[in-house]
Amino acid sequence: MSASIIGTGSYLPDRVLTNADLEAMVDTSDEWIVTRTGIKERHIARDDEGASHMAAAASRLAMADAQVEPGDVDLIIVATATPDMPFPSTACLVQNLVEARNAFCFDVSAACSGFLYALDIARKYVDSGMVKTALVVGAEKLSAITDWEDRDTCVLFGDGAGAVVVAARDTARGSIASVMGSDGALADLLKVPRCACSPIIDDGEDSDSPHIKMNGREVFKHAVRCMTDAAQQVLKASGMAVGDVDWVIPHQANMRIMNAIASRLDVPLEKFCLNLDMVGNMSAASIPVALDEAARAGKFKAGDVMLLVAFGGGFTWGASVLEWPSGNG
Ligand code: UT7
Repeated sequence: MSASIIGTGSYLPDRVLTNADLEAMVDTSDEWIVTRTGIKERHIARDDEGASHMAAAASRLAMADAQVEPGDVDLIIVATATPDMPFPSTACLVQNLVEARNAFCFDVSAACSGFLYALDIARKYVDSGMVKTALVVGAEKLSAITDWEDRDTCVLFGDGAGAVVVAARDTARGSIASVMGSDGALADLLKVPRCACSPIIDDGEDSDSPHIKMNGREVFKHAVRCMTDAAQQVLKASGMAVGDVDWVIPHQANMRIMNAIASRLDVPLEKFCLNLDMVGNMSAASIPVALDEAARAGKFKAGDVMLLVAFGGGFTWGASVLEWPSGNG
């Protein structure tokens, strides 16, 4: 028996913000955004919609896909950088919304790598036998921490949520291996400097900002290096060669990063499950939404080997190799 993904779900808000819309808001162009990032449009949550609501919508679909009742869920982990409130955790709010009364719940904060961290924790709970059924969610309302006057960042991000149900199955090897890493020395390169509980330290013009601040060029370089290294390390740890990988589901921030990783790993881009053009960078929601869209499109078959890889603020990074179980592909 091995912890496996037995159901997926995702949710994107109705409102779509196109590059043409952004042209009317800041000094940018569709041509610049598409050429430099690959993004054409992104979804933006309603004012009255939080990460918890999006997470709950994705979770209901994942539970239905897995044929799991809310009362059967033992553990809910939500990865988010945009919780509805500092506490209770978004996971507790989701528990209430989906009526998963028997679960214990907590959030994971690892920015864009959050979903992979959360999946790894859930896998270990399930493999230990302590938890039978876990719900793992990545949910983000990045529009709430975006500076809509900053063209460097406002063209990049979108809102959404993706969820998976994890349970033990004997039909697949489930999660085969994972590697995780962090480097807090580079925290300044990608951050939201201020929240209600921040210490009052005047360390520069950004120290008061409640919005995403990013040194794009530096983050870009680290993202390519860390994601490539993590992918190579996890393949080594799982005893697999690059050619054994059927699908790559990456955190998607920039199409040029995807191209660089595909080239360095020597994996054809056709094996990448990509949706960046239509959703933008959704941080922790990025991987589970792409996973759900590809699963529902019927791309995966039982036994497929999947490589999940992410990089984000912290810095944080991670990669997992898992096998797609029979019964959901
Ligand atoms: O999700 C977690 C990880 N996040 C990432 O991995 C993001 C990594 N970084 C990136 O994706 C890219 O660095 C960006 C898309 C953010 C920026 O692309 P870039 O090729 O690194 O552009 P740049 O920052 O070097 O800026 C090039 C030029 C600058 O003008 P000058 O100084 O050359 O005159 C910018 O001011 O492009 C300008 N620029 C824009 N122009 C039109 C920056 N943003 C825009 C914009 N529209 N939206």
